[in-house]
Amino acid sequence: MQIKSKLNSIIAKGLESANLNGDTISVVEATRPQFGDYQFNGIMKIAKSLRRNPRELANIVVDSIDKSDIIDRVEVAGAGFINIWISNSWIERSISSIVGDDRVGVSKVDEVKRIVVDYSSPNMAKQMHVGHLRSTIIGDTLVRLFEFLGHRVIRQNHIGDWGTQFGMLIAYLEEIGEDGDSTLQDLEEFYKRAKKRFDEDEKFADRAREYVVKLQQGDERCLTLWKRFIDSSLKHCEIVYEKLGVKLTNSDVRAESFYNSRLKGVVKHLEESGALVESSGAKCLFIDGFDNPMIVQKSDGGFLYATTDLAGVEFRAKELKADRICYVVDARQGDHFKQLFSVAKSSGLAEEGIELEHIAFGTMMDRSGRPFKTRDGGTIKLIELLDEAIEKAKSTIKNRDISSGDLERVAKAIGIGAVKYADLSVNRESNYIFSWDKMLSFEGNTALYIQYAYARIQSILRKYGRDIESKEIKIIDPLERSLALTILKLEDTLLKASEDATPNTITSYLYALVTTFMKFYEQNPILKDSVPDDIRESRLLLAELTANTISTTLDILGIEVVDRI
Ligand code: ARG
Repeated sequence: MQIKSKLNSIIAKGLESANLNGDTISVVEATRPQFGDYQFNGIMKIAKSLRRNPRELANIVVDSIDKSDIIDRVEVAGAGFINIWISNSWIERSISSIVGDDRVGVSKVDEVKRIVVDYSSPNMAKQMHVGHLRSTIIGDTLVRLFEFLGHRVIRQNHIGDWGTQFGMLIAYLEEIGEDGDSTLQDLEEFYKRAKKRFDEDEKFADRAREYVVKLQQGDERCLTLWKRFIDSSLKHCEIVYEKLGVKLTNSDVRAESFYNSRLKGVVKHLEESGALVESSGAKCLFIDGFDNPMIVQKSDGGFLYATTDLAGVEFRAKELKADRICYVVDARQGDHFKQLFSVAKSSGLAEEGIELEHIAFGTMMDRSGRPFKTRDGGTIKLIELLDEAIEKAKSTIKNRDISSGDLERVAKAIGIGAVKYADLSVNRESNYIFSWDKMLSFEGNTALYIQYAYARIQSILRKYGRDIESKEIKIIDPLERSLALTILKLEDTLLKASEDATPNTITSYLYALVTTFMKFYEQNPILKDSVPDDIRESRLLLAELTANTISTTLDILGIEVVDRI
């Protein structure tokens, strides 16, 4: 149900009949019950531009607002706010209309976009680290959200497989024997050993450099060795994806190397557009507002990360025909993306109308506020982190009534859910502190709090033990009203999260939903004998809808629900 747009158009009509223009302003959710359910704060702006008294204007608008359907009453408050109350009968009708709807009243968008999401994108030379975990989790949620809303999504795992380090790795693979496949098992170790050889032996380093050139020129043997390396690296990523339950497969990989054949063309295009400047032999782009230029070709002819991204933007715009491109990448690459987008637009690599977005995220910190590392300062292996999450989840639920057959599955849902939710529930641009205790708590804005509420509702429905015959929800109590209205806000929430690419819009909603449900349930018994049958069924329907809202929404976050905890 799109409540906001309904209210907006009612207000817009009210403004229009009062001969006022409020095109760009919209209602917001009221922050306190005494302000109503929604509030329109746009009068002040209009009054200012017209030099008129805002309260007076607000009264005129209030008089011309149509209160026939969704609105119960409106009231002018403070310096010219308009407080809006939704009508109970509208809530009753609307909530009853979505009973049994598996999309909980959320329609698919009318305007379907082609959205490219660049996420995960680890570097092949090393183990995936926690930064890539954030990119993978946030990106996966965006993909699920866009798809749920009916957009056409194209996933792009822009893996780093084409840097200079590959010469070093090939040289090392060569040195230990080409059948050294088993040594590739532990990539981190392999990389470290190769790097050590590179640093201590001039001859080895020279060989490594030669291999880079050979590789980039398409030398068959180098390519074969390189490919073996990439394959083994990717296998490691797949294990992580599998454990995380993210929607990324091999067919979503479009690696940096894919763009190799396009790099010369991109540089030529930029040269012709007159934007390239030579600076000490390198080809650079100077961009307004940035001290450092974007280098697209080094003096030795080599291309860079930026060149590949320029080719990538063009490919995504022109061949994948994207309307919107989301790059889910560490906030520290902010300047790179600002420069990239600016060049892409001004040089015509991507048309003006295409939305280019850096979906930036902050760093994961440990409890002492330092970037998340192992005790000896090494990078945390993701797979070990995820296994630990599952183990910890197991001990969290060990005293609960879960059959031993279910334990693995439930622990996985809870452990992986905890890691994902902790990541998704913070404002993505801020750094956040990774804490096992916090994320595995039954209290607070955690996955477990939400999953537990879901299981609790399932237990109520199990106890009831038969089908709910009624299809109608009655709103009698204020807590029923507030629960129903919260459920009806799901569509507005998802649209907002999709527009801003903010998963925490969804988690905040979920937290509010579950908190509201808990209050409702405390005050309104469901199964007690004293409750009249029709009210019992109405409350059961509300509980069931709450559970559907939870499972639908958690699914968008890539988190599983369980029937018993
Ligand atoms: N591999 C890069 C890194 O780990 C991230 C790539 C992000 N995508 C992109 N198109 N630049 O930093």
